[in-house]
Amino acid sequence: MRPRGPIAARATLGLAILTLLLAGLARVEASPQATAASQGMSDPALARSDYIENCGGCHGITGSSAPAQVPELRGRVGYFMCTEETRAYILRLPNVAHSRIVDDGQLAELMNYVVYVLGKDSVPAGRAPFTGPEVARERRQALSAANLTDERARNVAIAMRECGAPATLGAMYDPR
Ligand code: HEC
Repeated sequence: MRPRGPIAARATLGLAILTLLLAGLARVEASPQATAASQGMSDPALARSDYIENCGGCHGITGSSAPAQVPELRGRVGYFMCTEETRAYILRLPNVAHSRIVDDGQLAELMNYVVYVLGKDSVPAGRAPFTGPEVARERRQALSAANLTDERARNVAIAMRECGAPATLGAMYDPR
């Protein structure tokens, strides 16, 4: 190997500075506010309290409802972000579509809280957050209670096939 001259040394120093700068940028990106914004929540505290008030009574304030026959949201609801069809499914659920939150943007933020915060790492990579117009479109096609079981099974199958969702998603909760 050639002895390292001043040019090589300067290049190494430059690289080190660049690495530090990039690490700094990555930290800015990962700040809670930036994360919430990238997950479609302009007001994460409101999204959380809307969830607790409107959904937490059945699904649990942390998204964990087992052993009740109510699907566990924590750590797994994000799989429903898999395809257009599966994301439409969770917006068309009667308790979501007919929510007393009439503002579509506010309901979109609640649902982003549900999938990204309660669902944790279960959102497949690269999926865009819900938006008000998407909520407005899908909630007009609300499901009826009669076909819920079939719709759930169909959408779980899509998430398993397309996004590697675990078979335990088929049950209301993971019976560990
Ligand atoms: C009265 C109790 C109740 C309330 C309130 C309620 N849910 Fe549910 N939710 C259920 C039940 C039961 C199911 C299962 C539906 C079925 O049979 O497929 C469900 C299904 C879901 C699912 C699909 C998850 C899966 O694994 O299939 C999501 C997402 C969801 N609810 C979100 C919400 C949100 C968000 C709210 C508040 C806006 C809410 N729910 C309010 C009882 C409730």
